[in-house]
Amino acid sequence: MYLVFPTHAELARYTSQKLKTLMLSAVPTTVGLATGSTMEPVYANLIQSLQSAGPQDFKQLVSFNLDEYVGLNRQHPQSYRYYMQQHLFDHIGLPDEQTFLPDGSCTDIDEQCAWYSQAIQQRGGLDFQLLGIGTNGHIGFNEPGTPFDSRTHVVELSEQTRIDNGRFFDDFAEVPTHAITLGIADIMEAKEVWLLITGEHKAQTVLNYHRSAVDENMPASVLKRHPNAHILLDQAAATLLPAEVQTHYRTQAA
Ligand code: F6R
Repeated sequence: MYLVFPTHAELARYTSQKLKTLMLSAVPTTVGLATGSTMEPVYANLIQSLQSAGPQDFKQLVSFNLDEYVGLNRQHPQSYRYYMQQHLFDHIGLPDEQTFLPDGSCTDIDEQCAWYSQAIQQRGGLDFQLLGIGTNGHIGFNEPGTPFDSRTHVVELSEQTRIDNGRFFDDFAEVPTHAITLGIADIMEAKEVWLLITGEHKAQTVLNYHRSAVDENMPASVLKRHPNAHILLDQAAATLLPAEVQTHYRTQAA
């Protein structure tokens, strides 16, 4: 199901309210988080909303991020751990022991991958998974062609993804070639999934998703099989969808 918002800002506000409710849940709650420019206004809204609600303890919350670059430690400004500390965790005082990301600087990557999927399963799986999408349809760093039954694994990043993410690095040669990502099977086991897609530069990706069969060459298309997946778009990303689809799913809710 799609939800089309007039702007990225409204989509971000709506998503932040969902995350806030999950994070303040009175029962154990496991949330899957993502990084990237799509999420920046989401986390900015979330921080503002949580801070205005007064001190919180998040006792029931554990978060697992989708992915991390191989070879970057948590102090590296382009590591996803650094991103999460800067864009969310440090602002709301979420303790380290409640937040998990794959460790891109570990010595035994295979062991790290196996441990990560198991740690999620030991918590009873993800209650909610937040996703962005790459222009080539990747979710997490599951690039086109990734088997739908994959668990946490190491991937070689596609040239397109390295170009897309190169904007965050001073020099293209510094963009890591590999990453650890949650697998498609891990993502599909989440009880609820929200895929956020914003900006005109993703409009073709949205159309490709819309037209795609469930196909490993369009990783996000697996969500068409998920019983509780929602695709949240801003108007700019929705522009190439058929007009009746845009109208049918338009929302003002924010
Ligand atoms: C990030 C992630 C990626 C991004 C995707 C979109 O943790 O898993 O799949 O969500 O590459 O990135 P942005 O939002 O920067 O366009």
